[in-house]
Amino acid sequence: MTKSMIAPSILSANPLNLQDDLDTAILGGADMFHIDIMDGMFVPHLTFGPDLVAAIRATTALPLDVHLMAEHPENYVPQLIQTRADLINLHVESTVHVYDLVQQIQAAGLKAGIVLNPATAVSSISPLLPLVDNVLVMTVNPGFGGQQFIVPMLSKIEELAQLKIKHPEFKYTLEVDGGINEQTIKSCQQAGASSFVAGSFIFDHDIVAQIKCLKQAIDC
Ligand code: DX5
Ligand code: ZN
Repeated sequence: MTKSMIAPSILSANPLNLQDDLDTAILGGADMFHIDIMDGMFVPHLTFGPDLVAAIRATTALPLDVHLMAEHPENYVPQLIQTRADLINLHVESTVHVYDLVQQIQAAGLKAGIVLNPATAVSSISPLLPLVDNVLVMTVNPGFGGQQFIVPMLSKIEELAQLKIKHPEFKYTLEVDGGINEQTIKSCQQAGASSFVAGSFIFDHDIVAQIKCLKQAIDC
């Protein structure tokens, strides 16, 4: 069985206290860190760049899960590869060269993931499924933390889980991002997801207690 991973999204961490928030999340049992790169174009918000990913890499051995929300992702992928993040997730909607970028990331020895916006169908990534290491299902519209979980996305997770059963050669892990709390995490696990990104649920409250609460909800 695939190991369940709780991935605190540093989008909701305190930027002036980031090191402390990361340390506390590690203490609480975080399995990897989720880093949202937004360019203000693909989504209407600006966040971090590869420099922050590199800085976090230097402070922790925990896996780093980069979520790239940018137009022309090819402009950022080479620099992101340099950071030695573990996993780089690209939106299929963000470039016509997504196959090439996945190949570049994997050729550099990193894992490559593909992200689906809520309105994007699984069929749009069929040719990529034999190749990718991760599929990230957006369970909110990308761009902001603190939004409500979009329930119909559960059937998309189920569809991707079923495809893995039908094709044992598919090696991707299934990740969800957005609106994750102690209830929605359970539904996502039942649908077949194994990696769970959570931002506001973790960082807006007692970080250690909130991670424990998520872990308890999915028995891990
Ligand atoms: C939204 C980001 C998420 C965000 C999730 O575009 O991709 O990673 O941090 O935040 P919550 O868990 O608050 O919905
Ligand atoms: Zn994200």
